[in-house]
Amino acid sequence: MSHYSRVLVTGGCGFIGSHFIKKILEREHVSVLNIDVLTYAGNTGNLSTHTDAWGDRYTHVVENICNVSEIENLVATFDPEVVIHFAAESHVDRSYFDAYDFIKTNIEGTRVILEAVRKHNPRTRFIHISTDEIYGDVEEGEHSVEVHPMKPSNLYAASKAGADQLVQAFTRTHTFPAIIVRGSNNYGTHQYPEKLIPMTITSLLGDRKISVHGNGGHQRSWLHVQDFCAAILLIMDTAEGGTIWNVSGDSRTNLQVIQAIADVLELPLTDRIVHVPDRPGADLRYAPSSDKLQKNLGWSRSFSFDDSIPAIVAWYIENKDWWTDVQSKEEFISHFKKQAAGEWL
Ligand SMILES: NC(=O)c1ccc[n+]([C@@H]2O[C@H](COP(=O)([O-])OP(=O)(O)OC[C@H]3O[C@@H](n4cnc5c(N)ncnc54)[C@H](O)[C@@H]3O)[C@@H](O)[C@H]2O)c1
Repeated sequence: MSHYSRVLVTGGCGFIGSHFIKKILEREHVSVLNIDVLTYAGNTGNLSTHTDAWGDRYTHVVENICNVSEIENLVATFDPEVVIHFAAESHVDRSYFDAYDFIKTNIEGTRVILEAVRKHNPRTRFIHISTDEIYGDVEEGEHSVEVHPMKPSNLYAASKAGADQLVQAFTRTHTFPAIIVRGSNNYGTHQYPEKLIPMTITSLLGDRKISVHGNGGHQRSWLHVQDFCAAILLIMDTAEGGTIWNVSGDSRTNLQVIQAIADVLELPLTDRIVHVPDRPGADLRYAPSSDKLQKNLGWSRSFSFDDSIPAIVAWYIENKDWWTDVQSKEEFISHFKKQAAGEWL
């Protein structure tokens, strides 16, 4: 375990960031400053069960990472030893309707936080959270490795590829040894219910049909959020500056994911699925390899998809208030209508 004690997290009220904060604050010498502006995806309820126990080891500041002067002030005051940069517009489907916030937050926001941290202390450990979507479509039988070129297909992926390249350029130009972590599709508790797994569970528990893009044969690498957070911690503790790491899970098609959930719930899928038009330019297959992480840093997963999915389904059953609250908000309702109908452009 590392000695780092002051950890700045961006986007810590979102799905992955909130799991990461819970995990790192298990280390009793650590304090976290969480900068999260609370977009529709940010939810303080993801952390509220823990904040009393953390006391003054945890601070949340509601701020936009694009606000240069405020971000510079916060970095200078908190003086972080490590920055874990999660904040992003992360929901691919939304980038089909309006990409402005994706470009602004994911690229300009990343530049602002990089610049503020580099200027304050260029020896700060900076971990940028990227995605396997930057590699684009991967042929059957092939796997993406860290040296492969970026070929993003959608505007979310393009904005994340832009951020990833900015981080690499900062590392080279400014001798600022940032680290990039490219995760695959995460799943777990507290995931915004537009995403495939919570959307399927909550639809099956209610009376909604499940919208499947195209034929549902798209393959993704499904990674338990706890495994992803453990990988980020391991990389934070042990990786050399200036390195890039894929983190991946189990390959499943969208239809296989939906079937696995229906099996756990013991519900038939007959008449529950609607095939809607596929997203234009949708990638059919992502297949990142985490061989480098396993061989060099000794990472291994604790969760397989099949063994862990029943507990995830159980969490959504037991925490209906969490997702019905999210689903009652206008930001969910207005977007979900278009997503569910497959009305992309
Ligand atoms: N979810 C996945 O499967 C996955 C996979 C690989 C990589 N990632 C990456 O991991 C990171 C976290 O993903 P997630 O699923 O937790 O996302 P999320 O959408 O659930 O959370 C994003 C958080 O960032 C905050 N935020 C957004 N714009 C902001 C801004 N301008 N200023 C400050 N805060 C802002 C939001 O309020 C929210 O709390 C993202 O960078 C995403 O690209 C996600």
